[in-house]
Amino acid sequence: MFSLSGKIAIITGGASGIGKAIAELFHQQGASVHILDIQKPEDFPVYLTFHTVNITDSVQVQSVVTTFTSLDILVNNAGIAHVGDIETTSIEDFNRVMNVNVFGTFLCTQACIPVMKKNKKGVILNIASIAASAGLEKRFVYSTSKGAIKSMTLSIAKDYVKEGIRCNSISPARVHTPFVDGFLARFFPGKEKEKFEQLAQTQPIGRMAQTNEIALLALYLCSDEAGFITGTDYPIDGGFLTLNGQ
Ligand SMILES: NC(=O)c1ccc[n+]([C@@H]2O[C@H](COP(=O)([O-])OP(=O)(O)OC[C@H]3O[C@@H](n4cnc5c(N)ncnc54)[C@H](O)[C@@H]3O)[C@@H](O)[C@H]2O)c1
Repeated sequence: MFSLSGKIAIITGGASGIGKAIAELFHQQGASVHILDIQKPEDFPVYLTFHTVNITDSVQVQSVVTTFTSLDILVNNAGIAHVGDIETTSIEDFNRVMNVNVFGTFLCTQACIPVMKKNKKGVILNIASIAASAGLEKRFVYSTSKGAIKSMTLSIAKDYVKEGIRCNSISPARVHTPFVDGFLARFFPGKEKEKFEQLAQTQPIGRMAQTNEIALLALYLCSDEAGFITGTDYPIDGGFLTLNGQ
C-alpha cells in the first residue's frame, strides 16, 4: 500500500521543512523525486534530484519542466510568510508573498499540466494553510495567498477531472520547521522560546505538527489509494479549526 514505485514527482521548496519531509518519504516509497528550490543545501541527499529554480520565474520553471516526458505528481509546497495586518503590509510585502505563494504555484502548475494531460494521469497537491479558512491574526497577505491556493485547488480539480488529473490541498496548522524558527528569530528576537510555546498552544492538541505527519497525509493523497479524492482541502491542524473557541 502507498507505493510510489515508478512514479516521478516534482516538489517545490523541497530543500527544507515540510517539502523536505515529503521528498524523503516519497523517495522511500519508490518515487523518483525532483526538487525545485532556490538554493541547493550543502547536505542535500544524492538520491534526490535538485533543480535550482526560483518558482516565480517562468523561464526557469519552463526550462526544467519541459525536460520531463512523464510526470505523476506535483507538490506545490514552496511558500513564504509575512507578519502584519493590512496597514503594516507594504506593497512590496504584498507582492513578494503573493508572487511566491500564488504566482509561483500558478507557474509550476501551468507548466506541469501539459505533461500530465498527455499521459492522462497526474496528481497535484497544494500546500495551503489553516490561514486560508481561519484568517490568522496579523498574517494578512499570507492568509490572502493561502485562500487563493485553496480556491486554485478547486478550480484545477474541476477543469482537469476529465483528464485524469486529481488536485487537492493540505491545510496544516503550525508545523515545526525552519519557516517557524526563522520567523520567530526575525519577529520576536530574544523571546523565541516563549513565543514558540505560545504558538504550540494555539493547537488544541497542545503542540505543533512534525513535518513527517504532514508528509504522511501528502503520501496518501498522492498515492493511487486516494484515486477517488479530488477537489478537497484537508486540514491537519491538531483541532485548530474545529475545537478552538469551544
Ligand atoms: N511551517 C508551518 O507552520 C506551516 C503551516 C501551514 C502551511 N505551511 C506551508 O507549508 C509550505 C512549506 O513551509 P515550511 O514551513 O516547510 O517552510 P520552509 O521555509 O522550511 O521551506 C520553504 C522552502 O521553499 C523554498 N522557496 C521559497 N521561495 C521559493 C521560490 N521563490 N522558489 C523556489 N523555492 C522557494 C525555500 O527555499 C525553502 O526551501 C509553505 O507553503 C508554507 O506556507 C507551513
